[in-house]
Amino acid sequence: MKYCEKAPESIRENLFTMYDRDWAILSAGTEQSFNSMTVSWGGAGTLWGKPAATVYVRPQRYTLEFLRREPLFTLGFFTPEEHGVLAPFGSKSGRDCDKYALSGIQPVFAHDTVFPDGARLVLICRKQYQQQMDPACFLDPSLDKTWYGAKDYHWMLIGEVQKVLVREE
Ligand SMILES: Cc1cc2nc3c(=O)[nH]c(=O)nc-3n(C[C@H](O)[C@H](O)[C@H](O)COP(=O)(O)O)c2cc1C
Repeated sequence: MKYCEKAPESIRENLFTMYDRDWAILSAGTEQSFNSMTVSWGGAGTLWGKPAATVYVRPQRYTLEFLRREPLFTLGFFTPEEHGVLAPFGSKSGRDCDKYALSGIQPVFAHDTVFPDGARLVLICRKQYQQQMDPACFLDPSLDKTWYGAKDYHWMLIGEVQKVLVREE
């Protein structure tokens, strides 16, 4: 599909639904080696004076290996109507299968990174910060208890949004 580049400030989106309800496919890697997974936790805004996006990734995700290694990551946002076709990205690991082949979605290699073809909106992000959550920093201990029974604290990765691509209809 064809994409056109837009200024980040021209995007009119609801950040409270675009991750959690719409779902995003988080990707990192090169044509030789890459992986993608569904995320519904994340955010976007301004940090260090630039447009920025944040994702939260558990340590057991195969995608984290690519995210920690690569300078860029992408977020490809879809719609609830596409959740069926996206299913492999959130239920299977790239360690065990080719999620792109299973879903029928093509990977696009562009801008020195990768994203799933058909996403209605793509953020190309240059990594600026990565850190695993520290359990000592929870102010509400119930969060630790509820979400981290396995002590698998999320890695937080923040990237400067360098390009915003919008799918052309
Ligand atoms: C709707 C949905 C949202 C998800 N959001 C996240 C998330 O924000 N962070 C995370 O670490 N895993 C999340 N997951 C789980 C991963 O997508 C899933 O474990 C995936 O299979 C990991 O693939 P990988 O091992 O190839 O990286 C989500 C799954 C679904 C279905």
